[in-house]
Amino acid sequence: MSSENLHAPRERLSKETLTMHHAIVSVIEELEAVDWYRQRADDCEDESLKEILLHNMREEIEHACMGLEWLRRNNEHFAKYMDEFLYKKGDIDEH
Ligand SMILES: [Fe+2]
Repeated sequence: MSSENLHAPRERLSKETLTMHHAIVSVIEELEAVDWYRQRADDCEDESLKEILLHNMREEIEHACMGLEWLRRNNEHFAKYMDEFLYKKGDIDEH
């Protein structure tokens, strides 16, 4: 599998770094898809197509969340900060 997003020679990257790279790039792509579907839905004048685009947007949110959960389960730093910031009440910057 190749990636155009590597910033160091592939042979110098650990297997763990490459696996994390795959997960991170996948989350980025899912979030981009969320944004693209939402923009297309806003711009769409056909109501039935708009609903399909919004449905697809929600599925991309699901995919992004699955990737984030994988990152939480497989990287202690993601887990630490998700535990610190997600599902908390109050100001985000006061944690
Ligand atoms: Fe997706």
